[in-house]
Amino acid sequence: MNSDRVLIFDTTLRDGEQCPGASMNLREKLEIARQLARLKVDIIEAGFPIISDGDFEAVETIAREVSGPIIAGLARCVPKDIEAAGRSLLPAGERARIHVFLATSKIHREHKLRKASEEILRLTGEGVRQAKSYVSDVEFSPEDASRTEPEFLAEVVQAAIEAGATTVNIPDTVGYAMPGQYADLITYLRNHVRDINKAVISVHCHDDLGMAVANSLAAVQAGARQVEGTFNGIGERAGNAALEEVVMAIKTRPDVFAGLSTAVETREILKTSRLISRLSGLQVARSKAIVGENAFAHGSGIHQDGILKMRETYEIMDPQEVGWGGTDLPLTKHSGRHAMVARLEQLGFTLTDGEIVPIFTRFKELGDKKKFVYDDDLVALAGDAVAGETGAYSLEYIHVTSGSSTVPTATVRIRHAGETLQDSSPGNGAVDAAMKAIDRIVKRTGHLAVYLVEAVTEGQDALGEVTLKVDFGDGRLITGKGASTDVIEASARAYVNAINRALVMPKPIPGVVGSLV
Ligand code: KIV
Ligand code: ZN
Repeated sequence: MNSDRVLIFDTTLRDGEQCPGASMNLREKLEIARQLARLKVDIIEAGFPIISDGDFEAVETIAREVSGPIIAGLARCVPKDIEAAGRSLLPAGERARIHVFLATSKIHREHKLRKASEEILRLTGEGVRQAKSYVSDVEFSPEDASRTEPEFLAEVVQAAIEAGATTVNIPDTVGYAMPGQYADLITYLRNHVRDINKAVISVHCHDDLGMAVANSLAAVQAGARQVEGTFNGIGERAGNAALEEVVMAIKTRPDVFAGLSTAVETREILKTSRLISRLSGLQVARSKAIVGENAFAHGSGIHQDGILKMRETYEIMDPQEVGWGGTDLPLTKHSGRHAMVARLEQLGFTLTDGEIVPIFTRFKELGDKKKFVYDDDLVALAGDAVAGETGAYSLEYIHVTSGSSTVPTATVRIRHAGETLQDSSPGNGAVDAAMKAIDRIVKRTGHLAVYLVEAVTEGQDALGEVTLKVDFGDGRLITGKGASTDVIEASARAYVNAINRALVMPKPIPGVVGSLV
């Protein structure tokens, strides 16, 4: 089954979300899935339905609302997981894929699963057959494949295909492989699995040694035709293969990837990266390939001179091809609601009327303070809105007194369930005072594990964006985001946002999240 198309399987909403502090609410996941559909990825892995009611609902909602890509749900090779995945994917109809995984390496068999090889083979067949009873499109992943004995791996892959798997994924679960070795493993499977041509070979690489993209590309050269990864490379531990890099490598080096292509709409890449960074709260490094702030910035005079004479002297890709440059004129306070909504749609947000009203109010307030409202400002305002939850707390007013000879004190007013609640507190600084006042109102105590502030746009009137990770004492690290021209207000908004998210984020089921038993 070797074609010239390399399928792109995005697992930002599943493996990406396993990154500590990256949890997203339903609304945020839906926005990301819609943007991934505009980007034209082939498969969206929308979640792990058995893990929690929230994950089930996310997969079901994305399966219903997002058209275009195949929608996949992950399942351990156990009946209750596969059944939950099948149910959650019902609204996707023919576009549903169940992704079943089972560890195969000696270390996982002996120490994690405590199962013999024969049992792994039997379970593989049973799991895939059960998944087939719900959907025709079934993917099977032998977890930790790259550390599995190749002969046994070939047997497992054959068993999965015999049972009906249409895609066989070969994960480098712990990021242990090296490019040449991983490519050899793909070649080995192509030569030793009798029915290998009946399935698409997929690869799924983690970045523990910084090899995820290199390994994925080496595997493509060896015959893999599906690459799994995430945008911005987010994911467990050091993350997954960064899909924007995989896609652009295939596009930029036709001499190496002769005749191969993906269906990705590359001009949507930057927008997708920014949306994911904003909604997951995970910043992109300035020097990150393709989507980092400096990816196409030329500092040295020699380079600048070269670029001006001929772009290709120092640029191997046209930045516009991945969505840089070419932005429309920024909006101003004179821009109307229609212009704002149209720009937000271009930026990847599909908003309800109820969400647009408060965003427009804040847009006008911002327009009064700043000459121009840039796209990044708008993304921050819309991000605030989709991060909120109906019925939750919203910040109405904040007043802080601070100075070198006064104890910082904050007074905060919060709206909740139709009531206005107000309280004040001193603190160890203005942000601490604001947080303590909010704690008194909502009657819980959060501890800041991470506090990041950055300017969304340039200039003294820039919108400041605060990202927090808060520990409310239940073992979870909850991300909160807020934006304002005033950093203290942005911090208070971010903290209220974290409180709202803590109320709705699913609590991990012991033994399921992160453990992939
Ligand atoms: O890394 C891994 O092995 C996984 C599997 C579930 C495919 O994420
Ligand atoms: Zn993974």
